[in-house]
Amino acid sequence: MKISIITIFPEYFPQALAVGILGRALEARLVEVDLIDLRDYAEGTHRAVDDAPFGGGPGMVMMPEPLAKALDPLEGTHRVLFTPVGRRLDQAMLDRWSDLDHLTLVCGRYEGVDERIAEHFIDEEVSVGDYVLAGGEVAALLVTEGIVRLLPEAVGNPCSVVFESFREGLLEEPVYTRPSVFRGWQVPEVLLSGDHRRIAAWRTAQRRERTRDRRPDLLEGKCNVEEW
Ligand code: ADE
Repeated sequence: MKISIITIFPEYFPQALAVGILGRALEARLVEVDLIDLRDYAEGTHRAVDDAPFGGGPGMVMMPEPLAKALDPLEGTHRVLFTPVGRRLDQAMLDRWSDLDHLTLVCGRYEGVDERIAEHFIDEEVSVGDYVLAGGEVAALLVTEGIVRLLPEAVGNPCSVVFESFREGLLEEPVYTRPSVFRGWQVPEVLLSGDHRRIAAWRTAQRRERTRDRRPDLLEGKCNVEEW
């Protein structure tokens, strides 16, 4: 899989891409990340990539020309633009994108991107949450990590991907490791019982309880929380 990232801050990425699952996946060539400096497509001595908004108002808008030039060679790839006015990112999007051969991530900056780019060069506009960041770079890194860990062979144990939070619409259950008593706090007895049916039942109950307490929004429309 290839992920192309268009950004005015390519230097933001290399350190984060070098560690952990991402670092290993890149080294093993499970994925290739191509960092594209938008300023390489900008003209003039200042290599400007932004300009004042038509109609007035605060802030600057990312100019269409440099973005179009950077995106022209990437036609045919799936192109995602990060913007606070996009659809909210969820696991289903990451699942879908992880099946692609080539994904392009465009990091917006300033007050926004000229709408003609969003209309004619972008397949999906995506927000990573209901808050405003300085730009899409954090979002691009987040999505890259979220996708790469779904690639077969990227994680040590593929089962952990299947059973993890959100995959079945529930949060994960609590997990414990040794020692079984830590500063006087016991691991739940059932986990030490060796009884796999009881353990599975306990885990399911914990996932439901957690989800109901912490993220009832995930259950809306799927079940009646009161009856659960
Ligand atoms: N750029 C600025 N804020 C953003 C957000 N919430 N999601 C994606 N891109 C952004």
